[in-house]
Amino acid sequence: MKTALREDVAEKLTSLAKRRGFVFPSSEIYGGAGATWDFGPLGVELKRNVKDAWWRAMVQYRDDVVGLDGAILMHPRVWEASGHVENFIDPLVECRNCRHRFRVDDLPKGDELMDAWRSKRLDLSDTACPNCGERKLTDPRRFNLMFKTFVGPVEDEAAVAWLRPETAQAVYVNFENVQQATRRRLPFGIAQIGKAFRNEITPGNFIFRSREFEQMEMQYFCRPDDAPRLFEEWKAERMRWHRELGLPAERLRFREHAENERAHYAAAATDVEFEFPFGWKELEGIHNRTDYDLRRHTEYSGKKLEYFDDTTSERFVPYVVETAVGADRTTYAVMCAAYDEEPDKEGIRVVLRFRPQIAPYKVAVLPLSKNERLVPTAREVWAQLRPNFISTYDETQAIGRRYRRQDEIGTPLCVTIDFETLEDRQVTIRDRDSMAQIRVPIVELVPALTEKLRA
Ligand code: GAP
Repeated sequence: MKTALREDVAEKLTSLAKRRGFVFPSSEIYGGAGATWDFGPLGVELKRNVKDAWWRAMVQYRDDVVGLDGAILMHPRVWEASGHVENFIDPLVECRNCRHRFRVDDLPKGDELMDAWRSKRLDLSDTACPNCGERKLTDPRRFNLMFKTFVGPVEDEAAVAWLRPETAQAVYVNFENVQQATRRRLPFGIAQIGKAFRNEITPGNFIFRSREFEQMEMQYFCRPDDAPRLFEEWKAERMRWHRELGLPAERLRFREHAENERAHYAAAATDVEFEFPFGWKELEGIHNRTDYDLRRHTEYSGKKLEYFDDTTSERFVPYVVETAVGADRTTYAVMCAAYDEEPDKEGIRVVLRFRPQIAPYKVAVLPLSKNERLVPTAREVWAQLRPNFISTYDETQAIGRRYRRQDEIGTPLCVTIDFETLEDRQVTIRDRDSMAQIRVPIVELVPALTEKLRA
C-alpha cells in the first residue's frame, strides 16, 4: 500500500538525496552556489545509468545515429548565428516596492501575460506583486539567459565567450565534418551528451531547474519533406524510451507548443511532460528546427553547410528534427517515480523502486553480523561480485536495518552470508520488491544475480 502523498515526495526526496549521498547543494559549506548541485556517490551512478541508457537507445542500437562530444566554449559568432544572443531572453519584472524580481510567466496568469508580452501589448498596471501585493511592477526587461565570460587575459568585447545554453550548436557547426568523416547519407542523426548553462532567473524545485545541467540531445538531419513524418516517429520513440526507463505511462504526456510559445528556431515543438510532485512539467523537447541552424551558420561563417545527394544530383540544406532532454531532470523524474512507502513492522519501509538497469548499486553484500568468522567470507563474496556489478558492502547494525537502508537507495538485490554459509557455501539472495529470499551456492552467485537483474 502506498502511503506517501505525491506532494510530500519532493520534500522527502530532497532530504533523502542529501542524507544518502545522491545530490548535495554545490559549495554548501559556503552557503551554496545558487541552483547548482553536486552528485554524490549514489547520484553519480544513477545519472550515469540514465545517460548510458540514453546513449544505448540513441546511438548503440541504431544504425543511423553517431556520437559527438563538442567543446563547451565556442566561437562567439556561433551564438549570434544561432539566434541566442538576440532571442534567448526571459522577460523580467521588478516590484518597485519590495524589490523582488519575477519572470513574467511566474506571475499569476503567467501564460496570458506571456502571450501579451510576445504580441507587445503587455500591461502590468493591474497586476499585484506576488510578494508584497502592491501594484508596482516595472515594465519587463529583456534578460539574456546565457552566461558571459572572457577568453584570454583582457576582458573586452573582442574576448567575449558564452557558456553554451544548449549542446546542439556543436553538432550543427560539425555537420560537414561528421558527414564527410562517416560518409553518412540522409537521414542520419548526431547525438551528444554534455553540460549546458543557463542563468535562470527563477531556478528551483531541487535539480529540476538549475543553472548548470547536462543535456542529452540528438539532431536528426533529413530531407525537408520527411521532417514532419520523422518528427512524429521521434515523438513515439522518445515516449517509448521514457517508459522503458521506468516512468509510468499515466505520468507522461505530450504537450504541443502553440505557435507563439515556440523557441525562435522551431517550426513545430512538442514537450514530453512528466507529472512531477509539483505538477506536470517539461521533461523533453522535440523540435522541427527546419534548416534554420544550418542556414544561419552558412550566413554567419560563409561556409556552405549543404548535402549533396549523388543519386539525384540534388544539393540542398537538410532539415533537422531534434530531441532534447535533461539528464539531471530525467534523473529526478526517475527518483520521483521510484519513491514508495509501505507500512511494515518497524513503521514505514521507504523503497526506491528503480528498474535494475538504472539502480545505483545492483547488489549489496551483507554478513549476518560483524562476527569475525563471517566477515572474511562476506568480503571474499564481495570481491567476486565487484568485477561484475556496481555493488556495496555493509556490516554495521542489525540485518533488518541494513535491508531497509538498501531499500531506501533502491538496491534491487542483497546477498547475505550467515553461519550456514560457512558449512554449505551457500548464500541468501533477498529481493528488494518482494522481499522473497532464496539460497544459492556461491559458485552460482554471479549467473543467478545476472538473471535476476535482467528479469
Ligand atoms: N536544444 C534544444 C533545447 O535546449 P530546451 O527545451 O530548452 O531545448 C531541453 O531544453 C531540455 O533540457 C529540457 O526539456 C530539460 O529537460 C533540460 N533543461 C533545460 N533547462 C534546464 C535547466 N535550467 N535545468 C535543468 N534542465 C534543463
